Amino acid sequence: MANYLSDNQTRFLDELLDWLRIPSVSADPKFHADILKAADYLKMRLEEAGVQNLEICPTAGNPIVYGDYITDASKPTVLVYGHYDVQPADPYELWTSPPFEPVIKDGNIYARGACDDKGQVYMHVKAFEMMMRDGQGGVPCNIKFMFEGEEEIGSNNLEIFVRANKEKLQADVILISDTGMLANDAPSIEVGLRGLSYHEVTVTGPNRDLHSGLYGGAVQNPINALCEMIASLHDADGRITIPGFYDNVDELSADERAEMAKAPFSEDEFKKSIGLPASYGEKGYSSMERTSIRPTLDVNGIWGGYTGEGAKTVIASQAHAKISMRLVPHQTSAEITALFQAHFASIAPAGITVQVRPHHGGEPVVTPTDSVAYKAAADAMTTTFGKRPVPTRGGGSIPIVAMFKTELGLDTVLLGFGLDSDAIHSPNEHFGVFNFLKGIETIPHFYRNYAAAQ
Ligand code: BES
Ligand code: MN
Ligand code: MN
Repeated sequence: MANYLSDNQTRFLDELLDWLRIPSVSADPKFHADILKAADYLKMRLEEAGVQNLEICPTAGNPIVYGDYITDASKPTVLVYGHYDVQPADPYELWTSPPFEPVIKDGNIYARGACDDKGQVYMHVKAFEMMMRDGQGGVPCNIKFMFEGEEEIGSNNLEIFVRANKEKLQADVILISDTGMLANDAPSIEVGLRGLSYHEVTVTGPNRDLHSGLYGGAVQNPINALCEMIASLHDADGRITIPGFYDNVDELSADERAEMAKAPFSEDEFKKSIGLPASYGEKGYSSMERTSIRPTLDVNGIWGGYTGEGAKTVIASQAHAKISMRLVPHQTSAEITALFQAHFASIAPAGITVQVRPHHGGEPVVTPTDSVAYKAAADAMTTTFGKRPVPTRGGGSIPIVAMFKTELGLDTVLLGFGLDSDAIHSPNEHFGVFNFLKGIETIPHFYRNYAAAQ
């Protein structure tokens, strides 16, 4: 197998780069034709690798690419999920090479989607090809592939697709490579994802923009008010002040926290990697805990008033912000959304009206570490990294994972190969060539271990 991988790695990389050249941005409708092109490209490569029953399944939004390879009904079935859509690449000027002209520099593939998630999806395509062709025993279990084009905008149509195709998607476990690990010499498997409650808020004051000299001092300024309201959402201990916010939070035991603290996480490197002299967060928790087992609230964007060249003396009629909360078990996005809406309206000062518009949400999940599938993944990584992976709770969100559990009754294994330093969603996103190849090498071991354990 090592031979098949090394003999073909240049071609594998070239094919991935070709795919990364297609700007499959889901957030912006102007890229719609590229979304379709990226789905077609993926289907073509899956077909070439030997995946059967390939379809481009239309949805009300972007299509889902489905295919499978059923060897033997008595063998277990793995449903592989990933996404071929990518985040917008803005701001383009901060990229050292253009986001859709991928290059390999210093052992990394630079492009939007290199890690999240096209590069990781492509590991699965090539791992499958390798099992089909490397003469090492073929494909040891049944595999279904389902790749969507709307993960970065909330997976709404995938949810509908899953509900409508439960039979077709029947499997024993879900396998996803869309997360990260601690370091290349510290393999880990994420066993949790946070949920999400995301809102756009508008605060309105006077019925029109006002001259700040004629009216300033005698009216509540909506931008000032919004800033005060936002500032009040955390207390001096970094805790969120929304009443009831922590009521359902699953508190970890001292033992569980001690176990977590064993993970090789360096606070100094964390700070250094993002250019900060100090970290911040909820009192009593480490940075690793704050970014995984604790819920958070962050402003993602804020605007209003005059932001153009020069100065304009004005009190704006309105101010806006996008505010998201990351959730942990056993918070639910519906509960937190209701609490946020009620609280945010209640803290508006006199003269300010508040509108809260919820965007997509998602539920937190914790995946089991005592399952056959988790063990198969941990053993696979142990083989290819020469070190046993540690389980970690992740800070990001993949809302569909909780849905797979409720709708299909299936647990997920998050076999991700990215690194926090890969700059996903940021300028200069990249993915290590090492990580890409390690993923291709590891995935077949997962299938073999999983099939053998049944
Ligand atoms: N792949 C990421 C999530 C992720 C990254 C989880 C790294 C764990 C480690 C996914 O594509 C993503 O960006 N999710 C969004 C939520 C979605 C609803 C837009 C997120 O976490 O912000
Ligand atoms: Mn992703
Ligand atoms: Mn993403």
